[in-house]
Amino acid sequence: MTRVAIIGAGPCGTAQLQAFASAEKKGAEIPDVACFEKQSDWGGLWNYTWRTGTDEYGERVHGSMYRYLWSNGPKECLEFADYTFEQHFGRPIPSYPPRAVLTDYIKGRVEASGARKFCKFLHSAHWVAYNESKDNFSVTMRDLSNASLVTEEFDYVVVATGHFSVPNVPHFDGFDTYNGRLLHAHDYRDAREFAGMDVLIIGTSYSAEDIASQCHKYGAKSLTISHRTAPTGFHWPESFEEVPLLTHVDRKQAYFKDGSSKNIDAIILCTGYLHHFPFMDEDLRLKTTNRMWTPDLYQGVIWQKNPKVMYLGMQDQYYTFNMFDVQAWYVRDVIMGRIQLPSYEEMQKDSQAWLDREATLENYEDEIWFQGDYVQTLLDQSDYPKFDVQGINNTFMEWEHHKHDDIMGYRNNGYRSLMTNTKQPVHHTVWLEALDDSMESYLGA
Ligand SMILES: Cc1cc2nc3c(=O)[nH]c(=O)nc-3n(C[C@H](O)[C@H](O)[C@H](O)COP(=O)(O)OP(=O)(O)OC[C@H]3O[C@@H](n4cnc5c(N)ncnc54)[C@H](O)[C@@H]3O)c2cc1C
Ligand SMILES: NC(=O)c1ccc[n+]([C@@H]2O[C@H](COP(=O)([O-])OP(=O)(O)OC[C@H]3O[C@@H](n4cnc5c(N)ncnc54)[C@H](OP(=O)(O)O)[C@@H]3O)[C@@H](O)[C@H]2O)c1
Repeated sequence: MTRVAIIGAGPCGTAQLQAFASAEKKGAEIPDVACFEKQSDWGGLWNYTWRTGTDEYGERVHGSMYRYLWSNGPKECLEFADYTFEQHFGRPIPSYPPRAVLTDYIKGRVEASGARKFCKFLHSAHWVAYNESKDNFSVTMRDLSNASLVTEEFDYVVVATGHFSVPNVPHFDGFDTYNGRLLHAHDYRDAREFAGMDVLIIGTSYSAEDIASQCHKYGAKSLTISHRTAPTGFHWPESFEEVPLLTHVDRKQAYFKDGSSKNIDAIILCTGYLHHFPFMDEDLRLKTTNRMWTPDLYQGVIWQKNPKVMYLGMQDQYYTFNMFDVQAWYVRDVIMGRIQLPSYEEMQKDSQAWLDREATLENYEDEIWFQGDYVQTLLDQSDYPKFDVQGINNTFMEWEHHKHDDIMGYRNNGYRSLMTNTKQPVHHTVWLEALDDSMESYLGA
């Protein structure tokens, strides 16, 4: 029987499990599937951990999420087509749920489909190598429960370990002797730590805007956002300032490219993450930056140099959960022989066309339509329930406009579900005043 190893049980790994479970439910004979997850439960980044650095087993802590994190995009854009929010929560709920609510939703679907039987928790991928003579893979895992190495052979390997966990940490002169708190967003956990402080944020993307907003919400004295390429351009509150890139620090004084300087109590490096797969043999290892189209992956998922290796969710993400689903359904159908792959040359040609289009993208709107077209391409090729991709693109457009109108207030909007067509309510408390991020508070009247 064909054997499939899935590495990681976050939203991507669980999407892959859901894809197989759904084929099984429809009467298909599915391969022997094993999902290896280094944490003790599924959910990926959505499982909050207070830990930073290494965990109780000496493994690198995967979690980059923090307390009080609310979805930064409308949930209507990530909704599963085979399991709606209304199905899970029994009624429409507001559009920007806090982390615990989304975690409950992700886990609820796979619990319901019985996919837990495929999972081996506390198993960390250690080394994956291709066996040329057998045309299969030796997958070596570290069983964290007894600190032993276990090797099994598989015909296919699906890598679903995410790419927002290993921090990209630049160095700036003076950091060695900086007299304040200095950390990367990966290790940031609680905004209250920064109450009353003058905080410097390096970077301008999602972590930067969200962590800056949070620090403000929970009482930071001032926020200074330092950019390498361009300022965010949002209408920030008065206590915010956007400045060019940091050049160096001297004790607690931070100096910027325009010659200005500021006394700073804490520096948070919101400088992104690395695609890091040290457990994959060199020939199988994806090497890319965080971008809209990842090279060497046919249809965004198939490792062209050895198409029995697949990677899920490796693109920069506007679309998330439902994009992971259409990827997982496509991968499932390749593994089950329902989709035949073309030659290496044709795969390369197809990828090159996406790369050529990626090079023409000028702004976030172009990027959203690009990713929407990609999602549609995969959606057209499997039996994943059809959904209105254009409608989701339009909701993303509204979201971006709402952010540019009011960065502190955009989460106070409600959108229409593209899966159920129901308009979602607005939250009972405006985001800036909603300090309790529990599921009970969110779902309460
Ligand atoms: C701070 C932050 C906030 C975010 N907020 C949002 C949001 O609001 N909305 C949204 O849609 N997306 C958000 N995202 C994007 C996020 O990437 C996706 O939502 C999603 O978690 C990606 O799923 P994944 O399965 O690819 O990766 P992950 O969620 O990272 O899961 C990967 C899994 O692989 C496991 N793993 C890693 N290495 C190994 C190994 N060697 N062996 C075995 N298992 C391993 C990990 O333990 C983890 O469970 C956010 C990301 C970050 C960093
Ligand atoms: N609440 C939420 O839902 C939430 C919160 C946080 C994060 N997220 C998610 O997390 C993911 C990752 O976002 P991210 O912002 O961490 O990473 P990212 O989108 O990859 O952005 C990285 C940022 O770091 C900057 N940067 C990189 N190297 C630098 C250097 N040497 N010096 C200065 N600046 C540097 C980049 O600047 P340039 O523009 O100059 O390249 C960019 O602004 C996204 O999917 C996002 O949606 C969600």
